[in-house]
Amino acid sequence: MNNIEIPIDRLTAELEELSRLSDAPAPAVTRVLYTKADLQARRFLKQLCLEAGLHVREDAIGNFFARWPGTDESLPAVGTGSHTDAIPHSGMYDGTVGVLGGLEALRALKASGFLPRRSIELLMFTSEEPTRFGIGCVGSRGLSGAITSDKLANLRDSEGQRLDDVRRGAGFSGDLATVVLPGDHYSAFVELHIEQGPILERENLPIGVVTAIAAPAALVVKLEGEGGHAGAVLMPVRKDALCAAAEIVLAVEAAARGTGSPDAVATTGVCNVHPGAINSVPSQVELRIDVRDISLAARDASVAAIRQSIAEVSTRRGVKALVETLSVDPPATMAPTVVTAIESACRRLALPFKSMVSRAYHDSLFMAHVFPTGMIFIPCRGGVSHRPDEYASPAAIEKGVKVLAEALRILAE
Ligand code: GLV
Ligand code: MN
Ligand code: MN
Repeated sequence: MNNIEIPIDRLTAELEELSRLSDAPAPAVTRVLYTKADLQARRFLKQLCLEAGLHVREDAIGNFFARWPGTDESLPAVGTGSHTDAIPHSGMYDGTVGVLGGLEALRALKASGFLPRRSIELLMFTSEEPTRFGIGCVGSRGLSGAITSDKLANLRDSEGQRLDDVRRGAGFSGDLATVVLPGDHYSAFVELHIEQGPILERENLPIGVVTAIAAPAALVVKLEGEGGHAGAVLMPVRKDALCAAAEIVLAVEAAARGTGSPDAVATTGVCNVHPGAINSVPSQVELRIDVRDISLAARDASVAAIRQSIAEVSTRRGVKALVETLSVDPPATMAPTVVTAIESACRRLALPFKSMVSRAYHDSLFMAHVFPTGMIFIPCRGGVSHRPDEYASPAAIEKGVKVLAEALRILAE
């Protein structure tokens, strides 16, 4: 078998071209589900996959599959892939390295003369990011059966539009119930991704082999106080929803710090203030809160502490609080068979690696519920992600794609 060569200049050019399909000026990337930029990115990927001789299909929610048929098509396939959607004002490597890098791995394996016994399938998951419909991993939740088609159809965006209507408008029709894949569709799934943390760079290691993905949860808090004229409503009678929100934001931070768990993180990333006028007392605030931990018990303890603080602050301030759970997901463990294949690939390529947990979530969190799943991490500069200055070097990407290709070869032969 020939060695795998990665034409890294082509992959770099494709990553750059994809980054320009964006609603934010470069270097920032904004690509939200079913917007023009998202649809352009999908067309770009589809064209590349067709040029590579892959068989493409899209499901009813827009998950995209590009298949390289194996010599025994009756066997479960090996999957790889990630996402191309990007949160507002983010960078060009999150998700895209796993999609275009996954495509490059397939092209490189083909060019090497390899004939896979199992089919190899590249996936681009619909909306890994929670930007539009409030929950992340929309496509992989659907594929893995973690959400019912009815719940999917009725997710609403910030303008109150139902996912079912928006996806049809974007050209994705068909029955949402057909999105879920049979449990034997994949024998293994591998996702290549930037680390989004500082460890690999700090330790000068090219590859992280993920063993587990932290458990994420998301809450929305709707606070209703009393508005009024900023000059006329005197302080003793105020029920300012934003002042209550401010205390809650600090309580969110304190909850994660207070668990004693080194892996606890909690973030209030959204704060919408109504009516949002300098001379008007805020009457309504919506907060969106993200809470995570490797340990499910510690994550749940953070969520409980946050809920308790919301109740205490709102009662004391005479502000009504409605707390809804957007999502609450367990952690995932990566499959030993896939972890071993990735480690063997690293050894064959003489690349040192480190076992690590993923603090960010990924579509692999949901794929792992149903299919043996693993993840390959590569370093990114300063551990920075979800920012326009997110960066992974061509050399780092090349090593990640080589490990992915080698792991796919092991899993598919
Ligand atoms: C995915 O982008 C996450 O928020 O972990
Ligand atoms: Mn992301
Ligand atoms: Mn990602």
